[in-house]
Amino acid sequence: MTDALKLGFGPFAAPGKGVLIVFCDDALKFGVATAKVLGSALGSATGLVARAAKAERFTGKSGSSLDLIMPEGLKVGRLTVVGVGKAADLTAKDFLKLGGIAMGKLPASASDGVVFADLPGGAMSAEQAADMAQGARLRAYKFDRYKTRKKDDEKPPASRAMTVATADVAGARKAFASRDTTAAGIELARDLVNEPANVLYPEEFARRTLALKKVGVAVEVFDVKAMKKLGMNALLGVSQGSAHDGRMVVMRWNGGKKGDAPLAFIGKGVCFDTGGISIKPAASMEDMKGDMAGAACVVGLMHALASRKAKVNAVGLIGCVENMPDGNAQRPGDIVKSMSGQTIEIINTDAEGRLVLADVLWYAAKRFKPKFMIDLATLTGAIIVALGQEYAGMFTNNDELSHRLHLSGEATGELVWRMPLNPVYDKMLDSKFADMKHTGGTRWGGAITAAQFIQRFVADETPWVHLDIAGTGFDSRMTDINKSWGSGWGVRLLDRLVADYYEK
Ligand code: BES
Ligand code: MN
Ligand code: ZN
Repeated sequence: MTDALKLGFGPFAAPGKGVLIVFCDDALKFGVATAKVLGSALGSATGLVARAAKAERFTGKSGSSLDLIMPEGLKVGRLTVVGVGKAADLTAKDFLKLGGIAMGKLPASASDGVVFADLPGGAMSAEQAADMAQGARLRAYKFDRYKTRKKDDEKPPASRAMTVATADVAGARKAFASRDTTAAGIELARDLVNEPANVLYPEEFARRTLALKKVGVAVEVFDVKAMKKLGMNALLGVSQGSAHDGRMVVMRWNGGKKGDAPLAFIGKGVCFDTGGISIKPAASMEDMKGDMAGAACVVGLMHALASRKAKVNAVGLIGCVENMPDGNAQRPGDIVKSMSGQTIEIINTDAEGRLVLADVLWYAAKRFKPKFMIDLATLTGAIIVALGQEYAGMFTNNDELSHRLHLSGEATGELVWRMPLNPVYDKMLDSKFADMKHTGGTRWGGAITAAQFIQRFVADETPWVHLDIAGTGFDSRMTDINKSWGSGWGVRLLDRLVADYYEK
């Protein structure tokens, strides 16, 4: 949800109003196009800027910036010079970041901005200019649909425009098309995570996925009756204490060869996690509206893949439930029979995510026989203890997938760190009464025992990755391209993985 932002491309020219944003390196050097435009407007491109830079001790370091208000000779209200450090060191994800920084330099009051896709080493390529535009769009995202009392001087202009000036307008527009729809997928994921749980309960979540039909995704919704029939008692046990029934949604995109095994993406969609009977403390419990960030990512990804007509077969499955305490809620000590046939003794009802995944993963492997399965889940506080908010925890039975995801993480900045799986942890899951308990019983290695549990529901040795995104899915560190509580984490990572390795 973004206030009407018009993103476009245009030629290098001095704008007649608004804000102009340009880049320089750590020698305060501009690109040729920038120097030319500023030079003819200001007399000398470097003179005024050099004086201001000296006064402000601006050295062009990466991420730093210099503002010149009403520079004489230009018609803009402000010229902002953004430092990039060494231009030759910039990589693809840095162009996104530059777009984000540029968007951040458009003051709330200003309606027009122009940013020059130009560097000392030469004008940016069409792809780089398009990356900047994507970064600008992601930065501009705001979730404010419940703010009704904006004061007049806080209201943004009715519409805002950010123009990326480039040497190749047609090429940049073409390159931007898929980046634009991927951004839409990320924003969809962010919206879903940001929505409160009184609005976004399982049935409503499922209803919103129906919008994907518009981009060519087939959507099936399974209600409680349908899931009972499948024997999904692990998932259903979690949702039985809620007034809102659970749902499973299956989304299919067939952009690849007919008959090719699909890639499968599975998301934990706990719309609210109170902990159930093993209830959580009150502090920060409101954050548990975001416990469906894994499912949100899967929906955003399916939207992105379909919108850019990715040449791949992909399925997205999400298990949507609410974990509530109630007279009918599941108890510690209860034993449920999962769809796989394995029985599970419930220890702590707050370990609900793995129960949802157990049935959805089993179903995904059996029905689709996918090339691989990747699940995303805000699964454990323990992964935040281990990795903080910078890396998601990655658990996998497949070295090739691990390597590919590692590289996709480095390329996109959505980082993953591999954690161990090993049968030596299995004894922690032994139960006196059932085939297994669903928690390790101690806090030690909490993210690992969770993964170890989930692995038992990966049918037929399907290549599988579990991403524990408790630290990255919401309330994560703000970046130049994300100022939203719900980050939409994972959409860019997995879109990239698909594009780099699985599209023919
Ligand atoms: N949704 C939580 C994990 C979580 C915590 C995500 C904080 C994001 C931020 C999960 O369902 C949970 O409660 N896990 C328990 C498991 C424990 C009871 C074995 C945890 O991590 O404490
Ligand atoms: Mn929980
Ligand atoms: Zn949870």
